Amino acid sequence: MEPIEIASRDEIAALQLERLRKSLRHAYDNVAHYKAKFDSAGVHPDDLGSLDDLAKFPFTTKADLRDTYPFGMFAVPMDDVVRVHASSGTTGRPTVVGYTQNDIDTWAGIVARSIRAAGGTRKDIIHVTHGYGLFTGGLGVHYGAERVGCTVVPISGGQTERQVQLIQDFTPTMIVGTPSYILNIVDEFERQGLDPAQSSLQRGIFGAEPWGEEMRRQLETRLGIAAMDLYGLSEVIGPGVACECIESRDGPTIWEDHFYPEIIDPATGAVLADGEQGELVFTSLTKEALPIVRYRTRDLTRLLPPSARSFRRIGKITGRSDDMLIIRGVNLFPSQIEEFILRTPKLAPHYVLEVSRRGHMDDLAVKVEIRPEFAAAPATEREAAARELQHHIKSYIGINTRVEVAEVGAIERSTGKARRVIDLRNQ
Ligand code: DLL
Repeated sequence: MEPIEIASRDEIAALQLERLRKSLRHAYDNVAHYKAKFDSAGVHPDDLGSLDDLAKFPFTTKADLRDTYPFGMFAVPMDDVVRVHASSGTTGRPTVVGYTQNDIDTWAGIVARSIRAAGGTRKDIIHVTHGYGLFTGGLGVHYGAERVGCTVVPISGGQTERQVQLIQDFTPTMIVGTPSYILNIVDEFERQGLDPAQSSLQRGIFGAEPWGEEMRRQLETRLGIAAMDLYGLSEVIGPGVACECIESRDGPTIWEDHFYPEIIDPATGAVLADGEQGELVFTSLTKEALPIVRYRTRDLTRLLPPSARSFRRIGKITGRSDDMLIIRGVNLFPSQIEEFILRTPKLAPHYVLEVSRRGHMDDLAVKVEIRPEFAAAPATEREAAARELQHHIKSYIGINTRVEVAEVGAIERSTGKARRVIDLRNQ
């Protein structure tokens, strides 16, 4: 353990205040967008006398990153940015995040800390099923695992039969991925007549999508492992903002020396007391390329007191304060699908997204009406329109969907807010 993980709360608060001052100053001095927002809110980094003063500063949202797309929120020259990642924006443009070499090192450090908290050591062989690429999951976990000194198997997602074979052959002791995909691998073991509980795996770290205690029980019993929850988001850094400790498994411990958490009332923006349910907000304390000030994660949860470490924890993420969906670990906003529908000439902007579970995997069906002028078009033309939409969603967002083209008037019209999403997963 690093000394700060077991430091006193006073020591942690002192470090946070010192780092917060520097971070606000860095954002204000180097990002025109932050300067303009602070100025119009009438606040200045010098106004931060105590940690509570952070409440005076304006929030940052995905819209700020969209308005400054792609690199406008970066606080360092591009020469110092050594990597970018991206996540879903609410429209066609993704949300872009950047890292200096120091940021990459910080990130590897907190992911390494997360892996150690989950019981990992250099003796572990770690099978990483998160996607490698613009998504922060694969590369983020990878660098942290190397930092611990683990042997990393960077298999990424998909090819589930092969995943089973490599688990049999390489005998990993840890596995990392989205809980739903790992359960899929468990099913594949059984399909091949193998007992997953007899595999070499001892521990797993799961995240990137919400999962509950029932899912933990299934993963632990069927795979014969201890299952830990890993939380993070690209805008804040990626995986490793918080992770569960193996000895307590009572909610992810926030690495509070790097990320300052608040819980707010999503309707009013007022800061709530620890223990109260609301929206999680983070301010980065050490990031260089993309300092983030009071970022509204939209994740609903509460702050819990320290247990296995001196840092506070988050409870399970119980939902979101926006309409973002997570389908097989991929983030998606209904507005993105709407854009593609509007670009498909034969389709009308009357649609509903139906999310369900097939086995352990999420299934997304897009039900969309044909435009009245094509109502008499033959089935082949409707199928072509469905394929076109499916193709756009696959190539821009990266997920397979089922598109059903419906008759004119088949989708229920709303008198107020349209109900765009029917989520049948938790029923
Ligand atoms: O999902 C980072 C990550 C990768 C975390 C791998 C853990 C493991 P984004 O793609 O930006 O980043 O999505 C962030 O995913 O705001 C939550 O809504 C959700 N999420 C992430 N981890 C958890 C978790 C990565 N452990 C969004 N439990 C977040 C519940 C989670 N939801």
